[in-house]
Amino acid sequence: MDWDELVTAAWLTREQAYAPYSGFTVGAALMASDGRIFSGCNVENLSYGLTQCAERVAIGAAIAAGAREFLALAVVADTRQPVSPCGACRQVMAEFKVPRVILASRSERLEFSLDELLPRATTGILDRVE
Ligand code: THU
Repeated sequence: MDWDELVTAAWLTREQAYAPYSGFTVGAALMASDGRIFSGCNVENLSYGLTQCAERVAIGAAIAAGAREFLALAVVADTRQPVSPCGACRQVMAEFKVPRVILASRSERLEFSLDELLPRATTGILDRVE
């Protein structure tokens, strides 16, 4: 897959970003296994800590629509190098087993597996020896 459609959706939704504090706008788009695309942008807050990243907004939209299986998530920003998702977003991607993550700037596109971005994300958690 070349993920062009997904990356285009992320650029489009980035235009809706609410980022009055950082001025840094991010778009994300998540493709479900049935081909549906759900997108998100960052939504900042004066308290800073309540800011929602584009990735988690896209994932939340997908979950709310009933999607549970995913093919890939694209994240875009107008940066020199493709933007790197924060640790919290990586953990949420792990929750929903997003297998491929595409990071794009205007001139560069990188593709990672989730395991590359967050190794051993769930290993051992709640896995007790009785
Ligand atoms: N941001 C995202 O939405 N996704 C990322 O992958 C990196 C950072 C947002 C959060 C905040 O609104 C702004 O970018 C600066 O960190």
